[in-house]
Amino acid sequence: MRHLIASLWLCLFSCTTLAQTNQAAIATAHPLATKAGFEILQQGGNAFDAAVAVTAALAVVEPAGSGLGGGGFWLLHRAEDDYQVMIDGREMAPGKAHRDMYLNSDGQFEPDWSLNGPLAAGIPGVPAGLVHLSQKYGVLPLETSLQPAVQYAEQGFAVTVGYQHLAGFRRDTLRQYPEAARIFLDKGEVPAIGSKIRQPDLAATLKAIARQGKAGFYQGKTAERLVTAVQQHGGIWTHADLNNYEIIERKPVSGDYLGNQITSVALPSSGGLVLMLALNQLATFDLQQADLTQRRHWVVEAMRRAYFDRSRYLGDADFIDVPGHLTTPAYGRELSRSIDDDRASSSDALPLNEAAGENTTHFSIIDQHGNRVAATLSINYPFGSGFVAEGTGVLLNDEMDDFSAKEGTANVYGLVGNEANAVEPYKRPLSSMSPTFIENDQRLMIIGTPGGSRIISMVLLGLLDFVDGDSAEQIVAAPRYHHQYLPDVIQLEKDGFSEAEIKALQQRGHAIKQMTRRYGDMQTVIVNKQSGRIEAASDPRGEGLAEVRLIRP
Ligand code: DON
Repeated sequence: MRHLIASLWLCLFSCTTLAQTNQAAIATAHPLATKAGFEILQQGGNAFDAAVAVTAALAVVEPAGSGLGGGGFWLLHRAEDDYQVMIDGREMAPGKAHRDMYLNSDGQFEPDWSLNGPLAAGIPGVPAGLVHLSQKYGVLPLETSLQPAVQYAEQGFAVTVGYQHLAGFRRDTLRQYPEAARIFLDKGEVPAIGSKIRQPDLAATLKAIARQGKAGFYQGKTAERLVTAVQQHGGIWTHADLNNYEIIERKPVSGDYLGNQITSVALPSSGGLVLMLALNQLATFDLQQADLTQRRHWVVEAMRRAYFDRSRYLGDADFIDVPGHLTTPAYGRELSRSIDDDRASSSDALPLNEAAGENTTHFSIIDQHGNRVAATLSINYPFGSGFVAEGTGVLLNDEMDDFSAKEGTANVYGLVGNEANAVEPYKRPLSSMSPTFIENDQRLMIIGTPGGSRIISMVLLGLLDFVDGDSAEQIVAAPRYHHQYLPDVIQLEKDGFSEAEIKALQQRGHAIKQMTRRYGDMQTVIVNKQSGRIEAASDPRGEGLAEVRLIRP
């Protein structure tokens, strides 16, 4: 009882504190997106309106990562009634998609078909997501929340080092599609730092959505242009596919880890399930007392088993039956029993058969009322499929590559899967995007990151560091390691681990792959419920901006 009263008091205190301080925090992968979010909060919008503004702004200023031509997941927490929901705006396979569509006449997987050009593109969910978020959860008109993005598209944004890097990586694909090359390259070359990327067609498409809602994208002139161009370049979209696209509200995955309440994404993202699979195993070990190598060993072994279950059981739950026991603590305990405290397991020796990437975007928002949004959005590979339908400014995704094109054959992130994630008409490809909330009596955190298959392991490490009491800055900066069942190696981030630390893991039988780069672009917000203090941090590896500001009532 005393405990109950204490928690009640804490909650009241924290709510009052948040309300009284009028603080809001936004962490995104681009300073202009963070600015757009705050503009909307200052105009009386809530976190959900700000999420609309940030999503649309990122679609303009971070075109390599997400956009109107892509999809994603928004995880919401509404403060007035503690309502939590996941907005599934994941792309959907077109009606003419079929299981073997990415296999050549010899039955071999052709990665180029699922990665480059419009055949690689699922039906986008972001435009429908913007409309849904604004109409159902926002308080401002959609037109107001889209305004900053329209302005950025018309006036242009400046090319950065990060933009140059990704445009260089995808230059050859962008060059194949003149409309994409015209917008994102400069005479076929990577544009100079500081030069402006202007997107007037995209501004017009955003304005059509602002005026007509969903119809501004999925019907009428925009739809006509999209379908015509996609079909002309070998794609299979139809008007019916666009018309049929729906946002789905889903119950988030939730669970407890040592008194910390976890809320994360449900299928068709594997993120929430894989996180709970790993945390339920880790709850059986004393991570806090363990030395660093012991801790990393247990975490890697838990990742191995959790990603293993991803590869064999997970896909779009509207199409397949997913075992119900996966997130139970009992199953986690059972999985953990095969972990040897001193020796690495072998992935091949697990009762069967899975791998990684870079781009996509995540943002975290809390408003002055305590409403929260964690959203991870993607067009998959940098600059998606590289294809823009003339006159729309919309860069299409290549999310079809997240399906398992052929059983046992790895996709671009090295992930393998089976029937559960095979291509089917109207099915949504299995994702790793993991926008997540974690909360205990003292603090709450909003977290997520891009990074292909490594997203889940990055969020897992972030959650464990939060449980240890680390700050937002520490969490986004911490060195990262990853294991995804197959390949059976620990991937270590460049410069993150000393020789001695690496050796200690090798001595336990782990194979190590030292990566040549750093990865991830994590955006977090942490609220200290007792002091009311809010921290926000943006990954030092990226070019984002995290800020806490006072919102004038
Ligand atoms: O949904 C997924 O899991 C992938 N399409 C995410 C891609 C990604 O994070 C690429 N960036 N690093």
